[in-house]
Amino acid sequence: MKDSSQIGILGLGAYVPKRVLTNLDLEKMVDTSDEWIVTRTGIKQRHLASPGEASSDLGVKAAKKALEDAKLKPEEIDAIITATLSPDHIFPSTACLIQGELGAENAAAFDLGAGCSGFIYACTVAYGLVKAGMEKVLVIGTETISRFVNWQERSTCVLFGDAAGAAVIGRVKEGGIYGWDLGADGRGHDLLKINAGGSREPLTAENIASNRQFLSMSGPEVFRFAVRIIPKTGKKALEKANFEIEDIDWLIPHQANSRIIEAAIESLGIERDKVFVNLERYGNTSAASIPLAWTEGVLEGKIKRGDKLLLIGFGAGLTWAAMVLEY
Ligand code: ACO
Repeated sequence: MKDSSQIGILGLGAYVPKRVLTNLDLEKMVDTSDEWIVTRTGIKQRHLASPGEASSDLGVKAAKKALEDAKLKPEEIDAIITATLSPDHIFPSTACLIQGELGAENAAAFDLGAGCSGFIYACTVAYGLVKAGMEKVLVIGTETISRFVNWQERSTCVLFGDAAGAAVIGRVKEGGIYGWDLGADGRGHDLLKINAGGSREPLTAENIASNRQFLSMSGPEVFRFAVRIIPKTGKKALEKANFEIEDIDWLIPHQANSRIIEAAIESLGIERDKVFVNLERYGNTSAASIPLAWTEGVLEGKIKRGDKLLLIGFGAGLTWAAMVLEY
């Protein structure tokens, strides 16, 4: 299973914007309550980007921290992959804006769209690029979902937050990525989407008046999908890595809903104190949620070098992804 040319994590970093929106703040904006949000989701507050602060701005800050952690200069990076569902523009890619701002002049740059599974998807692409000859690939999950949320729609606006997380992937002497599972079911594309603003439904005064430029979600159906897919993809990744769940030191699930995480703990048969959860402070930050949780776990001294991790994501598409690695 282990070989001398493993590919793994050279550095990690995350950034959250300063502004905090609590459940009590939301009580003043829509017909909701702190009690409903905490019991149904586990979320107590979320951070929001300031006016003028876009996904690439958060991504640059997270990327700088990951580069510092890896002790690398931007010009040493061969590729930048940005996972996001809230890009600065339809084009050019957010990755190109980040590349320019970092001065990563030797890096190819592109975005990857796989919803909340995007960070793990991007890590597997980075793994493949390193295997194919690149040396260092910067993966960034960054979101300003607050720009795409209808702040008058209580069933969605309470759920999301803005953040960015980043990892540098390259050759490592110890540990590395051991296995993963990726999947999608495009028949579920309607369950979580932004209807207007793309080529299928360009923006018009009429669809803007109907709020079709905002995120819409069939919450209960996405919930059922998540509960079903998490153990399936998690077990597949463990099998590919030749690991048992008992070998895992930390499960880092996508931070969408504490009830989904509870179901994952049950179905995967992992001990509760091996599951890193921080969604009460940040809400669902989509492609940023896993690297944000991971970085925070490291900064809190809980997740350590050498720990065996299982990352699991699910989201719009529908998509899912799991990865087993030694950090
Ligand atoms: N405050 C108070 N009441 C609310 C709120 C709110 N914020 N939101 C909904 N309600 C009400 C509904 O109107 C409904 O009332 P009714 O019974 O009178 O009609 C009731 O609460 C129950 O609504 P449901 O939608 O059935 O609530 P549910 O228990 O399913 O919880 C939730 C909703 C939290 C959205 C849940 O379905 C969920 O977490 N789904 C998964 C979402 C998810 O993980 N999405 C991210 C995917 S990742 C990505 O790619 C972005």
